[in-house]
Amino acid sequence: MKPQIFVTRRLPQGAMDLLEENFNVECNPNDRVLTREELLSSVKGKQGLLPLLTETVDGEVMDAAGKGLRIVANYAVGYNNIDLAAATARKIAVTNTPGVLTETTADLTMGLILSVARRIVEADTFARAGKYRNWAPLLLVGADIHNKTLGLFGFGRIGFAVARRAAGFDMRILYHDLKRAEAELEKQVNAEYVDKETLLKESDFVSVHVPLSPDTLHMIGPEELSSMKSTAFIINTSRGEVIDEDALVAALGAKKIAGAGLDVFEHEPKIHPALAKMDNVVILPHIGSASIETRTQMGLVAAKNMIAALRGDVPPNCLNPEIYV
Ligand code: GLV
Ligand code: GLV
Repeated sequence: MKPQIFVTRRLPQGAMDLLEENFNVECNPNDRVLTREELLSSVKGKQGLLPLLTETVDGEVMDAAGKGLRIVANYAVGYNNIDLAAATARKIAVTNTPGVLTETTADLTMGLILSVARRIVEADTFARAGKYRNWAPLLLVGADIHNKTLGLFGFGRIGFAVARRAAGFDMRILYHDLKRAEAELEKQVNAEYVDKETLLKESDFVSVHVPLSPDTLHMIGPEELSSMKSTAFIINTSRGEVIDEDALVAALGAKKIAGAGLDVFEHEPKIHPALAKMDNVVILPHIGSASIETRTQMGLVAAKNMIAALRGDVPPNCLNPEIYV
């Protein structure tokens, strides 16, 4: 008999097909996020769980599944929604989908940089409202991107992919990370490793590409925002909680920084009401990896992790391989 798995939200067809070839798939029938109660009852008796970042998968969910649960295959690269220690304690594999969404997320990051600096969304709204009467020297003037300084917090796959794009815009690239990258990588994009203070002080665009963890929670707070140039923009396509959103609202309100491009929010899907009222803020509903190609690839990667684990192999993107030794 095929293993039983539960998928918390319908994925692109290619991914559903691969899962259905291999498993007895039960899937959330509704086009909405499951309630906690629905999640707890749906996982019962399953060997595999495929959640999204909208589901908190903790020990309670794992125990609700029962002793047969062998893998939680997250449909995301970030896995802050999964209690990894709880899974490891229960010898349940946890996997993510790294790699396949790197370029797509980097594309959107550039989109946010361009949008906030050149006021693209604001200009579109203006034109649609029939307000374009005549060309004028100062109509919707913004800031240049080329020859400016981009500061990257996090120089992993996504940070580096953003740097590659920014190099094409002749940007100067600074980065800060826990450890310095290989000289070869730095050279490819002409990136300079600097301390946090230098990055904040010198960057015209500060873009965040770190995973959410207790160490990165509110990594950008009042002090960091105050250290930025008043002409600088902050961009976030990682996790909302990395930026203290109240501090961000205060900094924008006091014009300590020039604007923000945000794909993620501290209390997602809630968006701070003040942000939504600011013309110098571009707000996106967490669409960093949202191309049909990438969302399909993410599903295929999650499915392959599921297939390997339920066959008894170490899945390719296992985050807790120590359970297999
Ligand atoms: C999306 O936010 C992801 O972590 O894949
Ligand atoms: C982070 O998850 C990255 O891919 O850099």
